Amino acid sequence: MRASTFILSALGSSVFAAPTFPDLNVAAALPGGIDTVAEYFNLLASKVQASKILIQAPVCDLSKAFLPAAPTPLPPPTAGLYLKHVALGRGTQNYTCDLKNATAVPVANGAVATLFNASCLASTYPDLASSLSRAAIQFNLTENESKLAPSNLGVSGLHYFTTTTTPFFNLDVSQNLKLGEAQCNKTNNTPAPANAAKGQKGEPAVPWLKLVAKAGASGGLQEVYRVETAGGSAPASCKGLTPTFEVQYAAQYWFYAK
Ligand SMILES: *[C@@H]1O[C@H](CO)[C@@H](O)[C@H](O)[C@H]1NC(C)=O
Ligand SMILES: *[C@@H]1O[C@H](CO)[C@@H](O)[C@H](O)[C@H]1NC(C)=O
Ligand SMILES: *[C@@H]1O[C@H](CO)[C@@H](O)[C@H](O)[C@H]1NC(C)=O
Ligand SMILES: *[C@@H]1O[C@H](CO)[C@@H](O)[C@H](O)[C@H]1NC(C)=O
Ligand SMILES: *[C@@H]1O[C@H](CO)[C@@H](O)[C@H](O)[C@H]1NC(C)=O
Ligand SMILES: *[C@@H]1O[C@H](CO)[C@@H](O)[C@H](O)[C@H]1NC(C)=O
Repeated sequence: MRASTFILSALGSSVFAAPTFPDLNVAAALPGGIDTVAEYFNLLASKVQASKILIQAPVCDLSKAFLPAAPTPLPPPTAGLYLKHVALGRGTQNYTCDLKNATAVPVANGAVATLFNASCLASTYPDLASSLSRAAIQFNLTENESKLAPSNLGVSGLHYFTTTTTPFFNLDVSQNLKLGEAQCNKTNNTPAPANAAKGQKGEPAVPWLKLVAKAGASGGLQEVYRVETAGGSAPASCKGLTPTFEVQYAAQYWFYAK
């Protein structure tokens, strides 16, 4: 299918075919959370409108995509690598709390997320991709985790940890997309921008990261960036929390390969 056809059908069906979305938890949403979803739909509608009147259809070309930059930027991808995939990740950051320690703070204990193919979106409509991260945090994944509301992006992978410090990306889960697998090492982090989307309970956005693939990665995968984060941060203290808990988050993952 031609890229332009894909974009139009993806956006068009999102807007016009009234897909059934999981519930939007209005009570859990921030004041402004609804505005964010409305903003997303407004942007979506204007893009669909814009696509219809464009004489030259938009082209889905990852070489034209620009990695979003934080106020204090991460180091750029290593020269010679190319952008292979952009995914929108939606899931939870996991934390543990030592309840025997009255002054304990939550400790990161991995994350789990479903990855959705946002390659065309990020290269063609970066503002829409950014807006989708902000909107997606307001919706939980459906039961089988194959649907990212409010969009109809397809699943391209899974993200979880293989040790407490080893983020893992499996981009081989989809029938027609086998993009590789990589166990990674975090090499750099930088705070999310001040206006980054907060989580369902107002949690600040987790930092942006640069990860480097360890030996044994497939598909040529070398470097992974986590950007455009929404939510995911733990409270400052363990008071009133359980020994393990999850915080909902969304983020874009940019995969560079050789
Ligand atoms: C998402 O799930 C969490 C717990 O699993 C729940 O606390 C939260 O209210 C849910 N949010 C929405 C928007 O449904
Ligand atoms: C998903 O991403 C890949 C590469 O990142 C792209 O080539 C492909 O066309 C995308 N598939 C769909 C259905 O969008
Ligand atoms: C309790 O938690 C604080 C904050 O993380 C830490 O500095 C301290 O070492 C912990 N105390 C014990 C006994 O684990
Ligand atoms: C996930 O759910 C959707 C709609 O409920 C369904 O069409 C799809 O087949 C399910 N996928 C899997 C892998 O179960
Ligand atoms: C992981 O990254 C850190 C920080 O750059 C570095 O010190 C360490 O050697 C790396 N570990 C591996 C296994 O690559
Ligand atoms: C944490 O992540 C794992 C997947 O790695 C998941 O199965 C588990 O339910 C999550 N939540 C908690 C509270 O441990």
